[in-house]
Amino acid sequence: DTPYLVDQFGRTATDLRVSLTDRCNLRCTYCMPAEGLDWMPEDTTLGDAELLRLLRIAVERLGITDIRLTGGEPLLRKGLAELIEEMASFQPRPRISLTTNAIGLANRADRLADAGLNRVNVSLDTLRPERFIEIARRDRLRHVLDGLRAARSAGLNPVKINAVLLRGINDDEAVPMLRFAVEHGYHLRFIEQMPLDAQHGWDRTNMITAEEILASLRTGFELTPSETSRGAAPAERWLVDGGPAEVGVIASVTRPFCAACDRSRLTADGQLRNCLFSQAETDLRTPLRAGASDAEIAEHWQATMWVKAAGHGINSTEFEQPVRPMSAIGG
Ligand code: GTP
Ligand code: 5AD
Ligand code: SF4
Repeated sequence: DTPYLVDQFGRTATDLRVSLTDRCNLRCTYCMPAEGLDWMPEDTTLGDAELLRLLRIAVERLGITDIRLTGGEPLLRKGLAELIEEMASFQPRPRISLTTNAIGLANRADRLADAGLNRVNVSLDTLRPERFIEIARRDRLRHVLDGLRAARSAGLNPVKINAVLLRGINDDEAVPMLRFAVEHGYHLRFIEQMPLDAQHGWDRTNMITAEEILASLRTGFELTPSETSRGAAPAERWLVDGGPAEVGVIASVTRPFCAACDRSRLTADGQLRNCLFSQAETDLRTPLRAGASDAEIAEHWQATMWVKAAGHGINSTEFEQPVRPMSAIGG
């Protein structure tokens, strides 16, 4: 009778990040090489029924209250709306959110909202078409902007934008991007780049730090710390010119938030991770396919979370990047 996912440091995981596919239709330079990656073989990815079974256990037995769907690019998953509908029928009903590049969202936002999706976070690193091509290696800025607009019209609220600034590439866009977000009612967050790229090319000295981001933003806006509680959220928030608009900074590297972490992660091939940066994974797919009971799976899950590390260790000299790249973990 231990329904929760707790760890030895007293944290409780109530937020599950689920990667629905490792594939993506963009090729952001800080994430994967131009040719893409060796995608997971079809037979190792969880089918809908398998995935829903695990999610039901997480929600109904293990205290997960929030499900975030990620990728790769989660909109590439066939039957996404039907999956969301099923998740929304769990008791108690979890909040359901999606982290997406928004390509194709324009014609699907209404359907996804009807299915029970609560909100979306959209990745967007630049407002300039030629830079978008340079960063994402595809000419799709228009589709992303259309997707953002559709998300707002569908009543998905708030619509957040995630931006990664890259030195010498788009690091002069903090102010124009925030102006755009405030004008259109999107909640913008800037993210420090983490060592999770498939090419293992992350370089600390090249990373744009939270401090730099804030200094850059202050050339165009007055920022004051937001008083509303942060909870376990990765983003620190600031009021823009006195509010109500806010901007967030996710400073995973220079200001880690591991002590308040409330996340557990499931990959598209059914591997459980207790941390974005964990080296070990727990294979849930094999027991699932071998006929394990709900109680047995719940036990594996609890045991995995119990041994979660205190922090990611990026700033330690012993740090080693996880074998899986971001796109196969789900971020
Ligand atoms: P909200 O609930 O909307 O605040 O979502 P989120 O910021 O947790 O999720 P999102 O998928 O939008 O991720 C934004 C950035 O935060 C990405 O770069 C994620 O990799 C990063 N992120 C999310 N969860 C964690 C985490 O547990 N640890 C670290 N270090 N980064 C995380
Ligand atoms: N570090 C930080 N954020 C990253 N993202 C992708 N790779 C990295 C990385 N190495 C961002 C994407 C997306 C979000 C889910 O994570 O741009 O907005
Ligand atoms: Fe949690 Fe790991 Fe993220 Fe830290 S790095 S906040 S411990 S998932």
